[in-house]
Amino acid sequence: MKKVKVIATAAAYPEQVVTNDDLAKIVDTSDEWISQRTGIKERRISSGENTSVFVIETARKLLERAEVSAEEIDLIIVASVTPDYGTPSLACMVQKALGTKNAVCFDIVAACSGFMFALSTADKFIKAGKYRNAIVIGGETLSKIVDWSDRSTCVLFGDGAGGAYIEETDEGGLLRENIGTEGECYEILTEGYTRCANAFNDIESYQDPRWYVFMNGREVFKFATKKVIQSIRQVLDEEGLQAEDIRYFIPHQANARIVEVIAKKLNVPFDRFEMNMERFGNTSSASIPIALNELNEKGLLERGDKIMLSGFGGDMTWATVLIEW
Ligand code: ACO
Repeated sequence: MKKVKVIATAAAYPEQVVTNDDLAKIVDTSDEWISQRTGIKERRISSGENTSVFVIETARKLLERAEVSAEEIDLIIVASVTPDYGTPSLACMVQKALGTKNAVCFDIVAACSGFMFALSTADKFIKAGKYRNAIVIGGETLSKIVDWSDRSTCVLFGDGAGGAYIEETDEGGLLRENIGTEGECYEILTEGYTRCANAFNDIESYQDPRWYVFMNGREVFKFATKKVIQSIRQVLDEEGLQAEDIRYFIPHQANARIVEVIAKKLNVPFDRFEMNMERFGNTSSASIPIALNELNEKGLLERGDKIMLSGFGGDMTWATVLIEW
């Protein structure tokens, strides 16, 4: 069976940097509280650009870096919980902007695990034989669905996009995955509720608080540490590997304390976990591909390296994908 390899990575994010001290001017918080509880020092926040701006820029860089033309792209999958529209999809907006006229394009929703679900989906499309390559992107403008008066959530998130160009190969590539959902727990973390009201029924317009991010932080913490550890262990066992065989672990960049627990329970030195939430905050589906791209841009990845990508998030979802670089 064909395998699927990551050929190029890219990311794009807003220019505007918002520090913890900036947030302390609008809500009752402090750099000390945010840094100690989350590991986040600053985040990139849109100045009005919508998610498609970052997603299209990421896709444009992927074409350049992979040295493929727009017409050669077979498939584009974008993961987002903050798309510009209900329809068109972000993937179709990429198609229009870049002229990837032969690609099949669609979006998926799997919250902070979205990039991994998209990667897994593209992997199956390519392995099924009809598609040779894909662009896979996670992109968010979480700042538009954050309640900027709620200190328990507004300090956590950032905006941006990251992605990968993948294509069929004969060796290495995406080796194994473990993905899953626990939909019965979805109320732990919600956002973007669109109320069912219309002029016909003359329902008065109101601002529904369920539009904004709601999170039971402690439950997310418990879910994340339990599921990510189980999921990484399962992938290691199925692949006959030990944790020390993995060059880099790239976890979802939600919270440094979650990563500390995972590293400790897996008995892996903390420095083998790639972390950039200090500078980006939690960018949901974009967090893992932005971190992967940073490692790649620094020239730290060598062909043959085994890299464990592991996400968790709303819905509630988790996803671990082991790749050979
Ligand atoms: N600044 C100052 N104080 C704050 C802030 C803030 N930004 N936010 C909350 N507090 C206060 C609370 O009001 C509370 O005060 P009280 O004791 O007087 O009531 C106190 O701090 C403790 O609040 P908790 O919510 O219990 O704080 P906790 O230690 O659980 O930390 C956090 C909150 C960081 C969200 C934690 O629960 C966590 O790490 N959860 C994991 C979830 C996560 O990382 N989510 C990210 C997004 S979800 C995702 O990506 C899937």
